[in-house]
Amino acid sequence: MSHTIRPLHPADAARALWNRSVPLWPMTPALWAEMVDAEVALVATEAGGAAHGQEEVVGLAVGARWPVADGVRGSVRLLAVDPAHRRRGLGTALLDAVAEALGQHGATVLRLGEGAPVYLTPGIDLREAAGLAFADARGFAPIGEAVHLGVALGPLDTDTEADGARLAEAGVTVRRATPSDHAPLARLLDAEWPAWHPEVARALANDPPSVHLAVRGADVLGFAAHSSSHAGMPWFGPMGTAPAARGLGVGAVLLRHCLADLREAGHAQATIAWAASLPFYEKAVGATVSHRFRRVERPL
Ligand SMILES: CC(C)(COP(=O)(O)OP(=O)(O)OC[C@H]1O[C@@H](n2cnc3c(N)ncnc32)[C@H](O)[C@@H]1OP(=O)(O)O)[C@@H](O)C(=O)NCCC(=O)NCCS
Repeated sequence: MSHTIRPLHPADAARALWNRSVPLWPMTPALWAEMVDAEVALVATEAGGAAHGQEEVVGLAVGARWPVADGVRGSVRLLAVDPAHRRRGLGTALLDAVAEALGQHGATVLRLGEGAPVYLTPGIDLREAAGLAFADARGFAPIGEAVHLGVALGPLDTDTEADGARLAEAGVTVRRATPSDHAPLARLLDAEWPAWHPEVARALANDPPSVHLAVRGADVLGFAAHSSSHAGMPWFGPMGTAPAARGLGVGAVLLRHCLADLREAGHAQATIAWAASLPFYEKAVGATVSHRFRRVERPL
């Protein structure tokens, strides 16, 4: 049966296609709206059952432009083919189409899954055997692993009063950010983590801002953010403490403020997304690895 690749239309049953094709990462309507908001969103369709003669959505590819310091990457944010239509070249055709479109947007390399500031998974979930084999067959090379950590919020001690008092003695105040903190926070990001500007801006735009700060005088010494993406999911990150302020205990307090927000929002678990510094999170809040991903890249 021949297929057609065309732009995604809002009326397409593409979220249902995703949810039956990738049951490990089901999407709610809110999460779906966030994930398909990208430079390129394509579906593969086939002529449907003779009875209704309609086309059937059998595959999906979403690609986003990902500007970085040394150029533009293409992020294949979503790629899925209906299990009943696999191994017939549809995944390859969708990948080729999304790659071509991302090339027109200036991308020179492709990554699967990961991107910024929005991604669903930071690479290919290691439980997704078909995805791993497909990436291999289509010339992607592994560039490392990413992990999510999980934290059980129920038993977590989020009381930061004693630590807050100790930091106050050192002249450090820990508090929720307000939109007017944008400039001093941007200075810290410029100096240490310029790539995180878009994620932090999204968290600062939440109401209330889902960013907590450690401040001394006019300077932001550290920050922690949550809910910058992944609508409705307990999504923590990014966070950072200025090198000169490390060792004061600022990071652990900021982290606990964010996790307290997520618990208050009704979540029993939090996800520390695409985490570096596993020992910090283990020690601070008993986090453990919950998901593993293979990060892959290919020239365009
Ligand atoms: C990955 C996925 C999109 C592939 O779709 P597909 O239409 O089956 O892909 P293709 O038919 O173009 O496969 C191309 C090649 O990839 C490899 N491949 C794909 N699925 C495979 C599998 N299950 N086992 C081994 N190799 C596989 C093969 O080399 C295949 O060529 P061949 O069939 O001639 O041997 C599909 O399996 C899927 O939707 N998986 C769940 C979501 C996912 O993992 N997405 C990718 C990560 S972002």
